[in-house]
Parts: sequence; C-alpha cells; structure tokens
Amino acid sequence: MQKPTVRAFFDEDTATWSYVVWSATDPQKRCAIIDSVLNFDLPSCTSSTRSADIIIAFIKEKQLVVEWILETHIHADHLTAARYLQERLGGKIAISKHILAIIATWVPVFQTQEDTKLDGSQFDHLFANDEQFTVADMPATILHTPGHTPADTTYVIGNAVFVGDAIFLPDVGSGRCDFPGGSAEHSYDSSRRLFALPDEYRLYVSHDYPPEHTRGPQCMTTIGEQKQHNIRLHLGISKEEFIRQRQHDDTGKAVPQLLLPSIQVNLRNGQFGKEVEGTQFVKLPVNKF
Ligand SMILES: [Fe+2]
Repeated sequence: MQKPTVRAFFDEDTATWSYVVWSATDPQKRCAIIDSVLNFDLPSCTSSTRSADIIIAFIKEKQLVVEWILETHIHADHLTAARYLQERLGGKIAISKHILAIIATWVPVFQTQEDTKLDGSQFDHLFANDEQFTVADMPATILHTPGHTPADTTYVIGNAVFVGDAIFLPDVGSGRCDFPGGSAEHSYDSSRRLFALPDEYRLYVSHDYPPEHTRGPQCMTTIGEQKQHNIRLHLGISKEEFIRQRQHDDTGKAVPQLLLPSIQVNLRNGQFGKEVEGTQFVKLPVNKF
C-alpha cells in the first residue's frame, strides 16, 4: 500500500490539526489539504488567515499543486479556511454527501437560507459512502464514520487514515456526541469500521487535547494502537459501556466557544454571510443553546 507523505500543522487556539498530504512518487506533485483553520477572535468578531498562510507558504515552498481541499465534517469549534485556500491555491473543496442533513438541521436555526445553498453546491464535490477517488497517484476512499456528527467522514489515502473527530489519540478517547444528530452508538460502530483497517495503518486525528502535564500535542497513532489502548474505544469495551461513558462525559459539557460562527461559516465552506454595505455578518441566535 502506498505511503503518502504527511505534514501536520497545529493551530494552538483551537487545538486543531490540519494536514497536507502528497506522494513522493507523483511527478505532478499533487496534494490534498485536510481540515484547515481560519482564525477567528470572537469578542472582536475578527478573522485572520494566520494559520492558513502557514500552509500556503509550505505548499509554495514545496511547489505542490493542490488537487483537493477536504473536510472531515462541519466543525463546531473552528472556522475552515477552505474557501480562502481555494482562492489562492485552487483545488476542489469536498465533503461527505451527509452534509445535506447538517445543512437541513442548522440553516433553520440560523435563518441563513438567503446565503447558504441547501443543495450543497457550495462544495465542488459531495462524496458518497465508500466512494473511491485518488489523491495524486494514490488510491483513496471514503468511510462514513458518524457519531460525533451525522456527517463525519474518514479519508483513507494510501495507508494514512484521517479520522476527523471520530476518534482521538489513545489517551484522549473520542469526540463528543452531544451535537444535534450526534450518536454515541454510531460513534462506537464507526470505531469498529476503522478497526477493520490494517493495524499498521497510520491514523491522524483532527484535534489533540493532551491530558494535562503528560505530553505535548501529537497527531498520529496507528489503528493497532487504538485497538489496544484507546481509553474509551479499545477492543475490550462493549458498546453499552462506551455509550454509558460517552453520555457521562458529554453531560453538562460546555458549548464550544466558536460554535455559532463556526457552523454557519463552515456550511458555506469558509465564507461569511451575505455582504451588506461592504460588511459581512455572523448571526447569533438567542436562547438556542
Ligand atoms: Fe468536530
């Protein structure tokens, strides 16, 4: 199985890992960017492209050609820089077709029908479950891994597996399942789909929240490590036990700071709302959470 080259970028404000993935054997030097970050300061409602610009500089230095800008899901804790990256580097922005359910859930909450397409056509491609595609000269496939949200997608590119928030590093566990449409049961089932991959496959997470004072942020483990050592999902844990623990962990959990701007902006692949007199807006629905 082909081994992609992976460079990880950590955004400290949101504990997010973004990735650039390419192939050492591809003469065209094509790459994919996975889960980028558009920095956003909520109190001042100010965005910045600081994190995305680091990725752009890296891609230019390596002379890579962006083929794909992939999202594992609609993030609730950071804004995506997908649109900004596409404007500067090209590439197709893609996400799972299950985004349509997320749009149907959230657009009425924000009342953003005017500037958010309901058919998903703001994305260049919507992946079907198990769809096969390529990144550079490497085979890639989609795994639908819901639970954290109903639309979570894992990208398997060669022997590298980009899981979004479907599972975190072994000592952290797994993503919360208390967003609308989230399901601890589905999260458990998704972990077992991931565990059907070969043990030696590298598994890359979208976030890392290291247990305090134990280690710095890391991004990679293996399928085998997760099966043996994930504190919430290892092979010895039953579905019932996982659901009980997950619901306990999620009870009373704070809403992510950037939830409201993140979801509405990410449903437009990183664009703010319709401009009025030269200003764009995010909406803050009152008493909805
Ligand atoms: Fe997430």
